Amino acid sequence: MDRSCAARRHEPVVPQATRGPLMTNLQVDFRGREVGDVRGVTIRAADQKDATAIARVHIDSWRTAYRGLVPDAYLAQISYEESEGTWRRILCEGDDKRLLVAEMDDVGVVGFALGGRGRTGDPVDPAYEGELWGIHILAEHRRQGIGRMLVREVARWLATQGMHSMFVWFLHDAAAPHFYRALGGQHLRTTKIEIGGAVLDYTAYGWLDATMLTNGEGPP
Ligand SMILES: CC(C)(COP(=O)(O)OP(=O)(O)OC[C@H]1O[C@@H](n2cnc3c(N)ncnc32)[C@H](O)[C@@H]1OP(=O)(O)O)[C@@H](O)C(=O)NCCC(=O)NCCS
Repeated sequence: MDRSCAARRHEPVVPQATRGPLMTNLQVDFRGREVGDVRGVTIRAADQKDATAIARVHIDSWRTAYRGLVPDAYLAQISYEESEGTWRRILCEGDDKRLLVAEMDDVGVVGFALGGRGRTGDPVDPAYEGELWGIHILAEHRRQGIGRMLVREVARWLATQGMHSMFVWFLHDAAAPHFYRALGGQHLRTTKIEIGGAVLDYTAYGWLDATMLTNGEGPP
């Protein structure tokens, strides 16, 4: 085992709800384009050397996407260091999750996604097996198709693990519901979550057949 992983095995896992959605590689999008050919962006599995960059994307994405929704004080206190620790732990946790990064030529990591088996206890229909635990793209690189590429790769990886359905929980911000609807997700439920003293809408979308995300036959 990577020595940096051995050193972190027994650290507590930071609760997902307090850190926000976290996040993981394929080759053809809904329109049949090759991922590696699109705008110089490559999707690949993350490793420990990506942890710093993933933390930067995570925190910067929170501070842009959730400003005006999550209290400023909360956004000010989330830290790159703590986020990096979370990602290092996740990268050590073995084969039950897949952390992917989107890397842009001459820029570096601009986004990431994490997929794995659905968390038990989430109030979604047990028919949904896999979970997109989180996805973040730097604000200046959104609306270029990178999020779509990452979700496709997560769905492909889940399928290799025998999980052909998928759900995602997300803070109901300005982009995410549109994004998941555009990808063919179905609204499952909306509940409430408290973050930094604010009570926010927390919504689950699902794909009973997540292979629609991977086989070139997704929504137009
Ligand atoms: C949600 C998020 C991951 C989407 O990533 P992205 O790379 O910008 O999305 P894409 O470019 O692949 O968009 C695919 C489609 O989704 C829809 N979409 C994405 N963002 C949208 C927005 N802000 N408004 C309306 N539709 C949107 C569009 O239909 C888009 O296709 P188009 O650009 O050809 O019209 C990104 O906005 C993000 O990182 N947000 C902050 C964090 C977050 O909310 N994560 C999700 C919860 S875990």
